[in-house]
Amino acid sequence: MNIEAVKTQFRALKMSTAAKELDEVAAKHKAAVSLHWISELLEREIDTRKEHGLQKRIERAAFPELRTLEEFDWRFNPKIDKEKIEELAKLEFIHNNRIGLFLGKPGTGKTHLALAIGLLAVKAGLRVYCTSAKNLAYEITLARAKNNLDVLFKKILSSNLWIVDNWGVVSMGREIAEEVFDLFDRRKYNSAMILTSNRDLKEWSEVFPDPVLANATIDRMFDRAEIVIFEGKSYRLKGRIELPEFRVTKTARKEEAKI
Ligand SMILES: Nc1ncnc2c1ncn2[C@@H]1O[C@H](COP(=O)(O)OP(=O)(O)OP(=O)(O)O)[C@@H](O)[C@H]1O
Ligand SMILES: [Mg+2]
Repeated sequence: MNIEAVKTQFRALKMSTAAKELDEVAAKHKAAVSLHWISELLEREIDTRKEHGLQKRIERAAFPELRTLEEFDWRFNPKIDKEKIEELAKLEFIHNNRIGLFLGKPGTGKTHLALAIGLLAVKAGLRVYCTSAKNLAYEITLARAKNNLDVLFKKILSSNLWIVDNWGVVSMGREIAEEVFDLFDRRKYNSAMILTSNRDLKEWSEVFPDPVLANATIDRMFDRAEIVIFEGKSYRLKGRIELPEFRVTKTARKEEAKI
């Protein structure tokens, strides 16, 4: 067993003293030839720590569900730009604090792909934080009431990737909108973002209390953004269109039978 390999494992476990003093201690005990067992043990420790770290990052990311790119059927809505998504999935945009805007029709996979990229980021060792726009407004309200807005800001801005799902569904009062603007403004120095929305762009300003705040915030969302348009039919309806009718018929038949 190469003593250097064991040193690398010690360093991976942040055991710098053990790495530095291994030569001396091994020489003292003339044990350099029998390092296989310790190497295997260290490898197990490294694997366990990696797994725990991943689980912790998944929990902190607050994903509503775990989705993968592999589960996505690109043939269902072929107009969705697969190449652009695959480019984002390389995660380079995260290192550059860029934005991915996933815009378009309901049920076409915006949230699915945002979560899938989020999971890839977490697996790559990055910190992700995921929230719906509605929940963000709720969290801001709660944090303001508890006077700990700084904790919420830190949680969001210390993540490498911030996913804001379902933008445009809730209208915001001035106090919330100002904090949202502040977050979007400060984000560019700290974290990348993926924002999903099925609302028409023309309607975006309606969620703000005034046009000045709306323009300033929307401007920041589009700053160096990679825009992916989701066109096509809702996957939620796939193979289900006949189902409700079938159920109604069955129930109706039962009702008929009772009469
Ligand atoms: N092309 C696809 N292949 C496989 N599953 C898909 C595909 N498109 C959507 N889905 C699934 O359909 C459901 C709805 O997709 P999703 O929630 O991502 O839609 P959305 O575009 O975010 O819709 P909304 O605008 O209503 O939020 C999810 O369970 C998702 O996993
Ligand atoms: Mg969605």
